[in-house]
Amino acid sequence: MNRLFLLLFIVANASAEQGFMPISGSEYLSEQVRDMQEDEFANPAMPTVDYGRSLFHKVNDEGHRCSGCHGENGNKLKLERIAAYPVYDREQERPITLQNQINICREERMDDFPYVYDCREMVGLETYMKFLARGQIIRVQTDGPMTPFYQAGKQLYHRRFGQMEMSCAHCHDQHRGAWLRGQVLNQGQSNGFPVYRLSTSRVTSLHRRFSECLFSFRAEPFLSGSDEYINLELFVNARGNGLSIETPAIRD
Ligand code: HEC
Ligand code: HEC
Repeated sequence: MNRLFLLLFIVANASAEQGFMPISGSEYLSEQVRDMQEDEFANPAMPTVDYGRSLFHKVNDEGHRCSGCHGENGNKLKLERIAAYPVYDREQERPITLQNQINICREERMDDFPYVYDCREMVGLETYMKFLARGQIIRVQTDGPMTPFYQAGKQLYHRRFGQMEMSCAHCHDQHRGAWLRGQVLNQGQSNGFPVYRLSTSRVTSLHRRFSECLFSFRAEPFLSGSDEYINLELFVNARGNGLSIETPAIRD
């Protein structure tokens, strides 16, 4: 009997690897939390969205504001483009994240200084942009000039870290569905980011979540905005191609 279960387990896992189907972390939520996530009034991350919205319309010292180019409430933004980050930047010859894009706009088009990666303002603006793009289907490019960066991200995802020699894939591919310290392991998808964590009552960016996962198995994290995390974001976002944006999602 036990052997039969083991066999079924192996077969199920093998087929999961071949035809990988992305599943949003929201599928693992209780109905109550999912309702809260979808309700614009009940979602506890809405103050962060509002903060991002206020920054978006704020005039800087040089007389520029995001909404000057992107429209009131972002009505001229290309929402399907927001769902495609990281995108390849021809000038820099590397992938850029949505946060990188916001800094490019600030430096090159607003004569302003760049924000520090993952600072409060940046996460506010990013949350607002992604909130506007809710429902857009994630389509991240992985071929052409993106190939080497995608491969580097994939390698990182499978690299064993720390004394426990664990990789992202160990938890989010092989053991997903299992329980770990009171939490069900999901696929580690990024379509809800930045997310609101009920355990910390805070909005958490994707790179911080990477660091928290690495911390959790006592591995040394990288820096927010580092090349490593940008490549990892590229791989993780592309792994969710086909899912829709659900920012700001709610998680434990
Ligand atoms: C002077 C005009 C201008 C201002 C001001 C500006 N941007 Fe942009 N932004 C652009 C242009 C042009 C692009 C297209 C860039 C490209 O394709 O390389 C862009 C692209 C974007 C994108 C990608 C989605 C899209 O519609 O292409 C986002 C998100 C974005 N900007 C956010 C911001 C934010 C946030 C601010 C304020 C901090 C800002 N921008 C300020 C001109 C501007
Ligand atoms: C020891 C197991 C473990 C490892 C290894 C691990 N994680 Fe996680 N991860 C978790 C747990 C537990 C959560 C929170 C519960 C959940 O959402 O499944 C989580 C959540 C996430 C989420 C958020 C998912 C969502 O729906 O909001 C992302 C993204 C993520 N991990 C990425 C990674 C990456 C990238 C790595 C490798 C650097 C990694 N994780 C390594 C256990 C792990």
